[in-house]
Amino acid sequence: MGIIFSIISGKGGVGKTTTAANLAIGTAMQGKKTVVVDFDIGQRNLDMILGLENRVVYDITHVMDGDVRLRQALIPFKKNENLYFLAASQTKDKTVLNKEKVEKVLSELKKEFEYIFIDAPAGIESGFEHAVYFADAVIVVVNPEVSSIRDSDRAIGIVDAKSKKSQEGKRVAKYLIINRINPDLVQKGEMLSSEDILDILEIDLLGKVPEDQIIIEASNTGHPVILNEKSEAGRAFKRISRRLCGEEVPFVDIESVKHSGLLKSIKKMFQ
Ligand SMILES: Nc1ncnc2c1ncn2[C@@H]1O[C@H](COP(=O)(O)OP(=O)(O)OP(=O)(O)O)[C@@H](O)[C@H]1O
Ligand SMILES: [Mg+2]
Repeated sequence: MGIIFSIISGKGGVGKTTTAANLAIGTAMQGKKTVVVDFDIGQRNLDMILGLENRVVYDITHVMDGDVRLRQALIPFKKNENLYFLAASQTKDKTVLNKEKVEKVLSELKKEFEYIFIDAPAGIESGFEHAVYFADAVIVVVNPEVSSIRDSDRAIGIVDAKSKKSQEGKRVAKYLIINRINPDLVQKGEMLSSEDILDILEIDLLGKVPEDQIIIEASNTGHPVILNEKSEAGRAFKRISRRLCGEEVPFVDIESVKHSGLLKSIKKMFQ
């Protein structure tokens, strides 16, 4: 039986889709049968980041509505045979997802795949709600910015209140990825350090990913950074994927952690 990891954030544009693509490739590289599903209805771009935009014929709505079988909608990732992708529909109606039908699709995926990543949309609309509802674990992506951390705090609250598992009295594992860390700014005290962020959010750190220009190039060419040995962010995603596969991978100090003076005033906002 597979595990569903929903990748959420609260604030948009922090790197959820980038994370979903790279971690899915990462677990596939570790030999795990993996599928990554786009829940960002109407605004899909995971297909592009994976370089599969020309391959999308059917999407999750077609499967939900029984127009095609799941097999027909799953797109193989050419660069790794363990990975498949299921696209989001491009409809303007963001409420197309239906709980019973989504559950059926996900339970079929759980039978076939070990790792199921859901790329959630920003905000707390229908796609987010479904991603959270069915999650076995959530991966919260934040940037080292107050607005991102505040919004993720709210999103974490929704996980506790609304997920199926927590409604059944079970625990939904929650992991944090801090993305777009700029070590120079942290050292100058102009960016929150990960220590500061962990102090505020109090969830388990899964990994830190540095700001990396190669990511922008990678998004445009459909060649995610995890496949690029030269990319520091790619190496960070690789370490995170290995952790997800149960390996103990030491945390690399990419920022030379220092308590920033910003912390005191920011903490007040969360009390
Ligand atoms: N570590 C990084 N270094 C540099 N650029 C990054 C990094 N992570 C993400 N980006 C860039 O930030 C932008 C937003 O990333 P992405 O689309 O993954 O965010 P998102 O959270 O999925 O956004 P949305 O909420 O709109 O779905 C993209 O242009 C991406 O290339
Ligand atoms: Mg996205």
